[in-house]
Amino acid sequence: MKNLPLEPILHQPSHVTKMDRYPDLFSFTASLIKNENCKILSFGCSSGEECISLRKYFPKAHIVGAEINQDLLSICREKQDSQMDFIHSKYENLKKHGPYDLIFSLNVFNRNVKDPENYPLYVFSYFEDQINQFHEILHVDGLLILQGSKHNFKKTEVFENGFYYQLSQKTIFQKIIDKI
Ligand SMILES: C[S@@+](CC[C@H](N)C(=O)[O-])C[C@H]1O[C@@H](n2cnc3c(N)ncnc32)[C@H](O)[C@@H]1O
Repeated sequence: MKNLPLEPILHQPSHVTKMDRYPDLFSFTASLIKNENCKILSFGCSSGEECISLRKYFPKAHIVGAEINQDLLSICREKQDSQMDFIHSKYENLKKHGPYDLIFSLNVFNRNVKDPENYPLYVFSYFEDQINQFHEILHVDGLLILQGSKHNFKKTEVFENGFYYQLSQKTIFQKIIDKI
């Protein structure tokens, strides 16, 4: 049985974000999606600019922004539209709002800090535990988009066991097999 921690761990303490940070990635991903009413998870959405930017590329999607930091969630909620939800990133919430057609996790799995006492080494199992949660809540044929990650998705059990296919755009993985 995979490890699916109930409480989130802090992957990345930096909140840096900005509007339309990934125009090429978002427009390429939008070109792959046939269902305009798709459901998108933006995991580690910081103060919400990523979700607001995604709206431009996915005008009819239901967008769920997940954050570990409650103060940031309050800022996000001031910007939300009627097809957007902002949730705390514990597994129960992620699952309740899913399943998702697309999961973006951009510049989240990369703990690059100068304060090793408060932020110990970012070990592979933190990353893989989160990936296992994503695997549970992503539709078959859904896309997992991981950019700016310290750890390699291709080293995870779900990738090694053939559950995902890497697209030509190297940060995008398609789920091809559900859990057995
Ligand atoms: C560097 S920001 C990236 C923001 C946005 N994705 C972007 O690329 O512009 C990383 C965000 O991930 C959040 N984060 C870290 N661990 C998290 C977790 N377990 N669940 C949800 N968000 C998390 C941080 O609070 C922070 O807001």
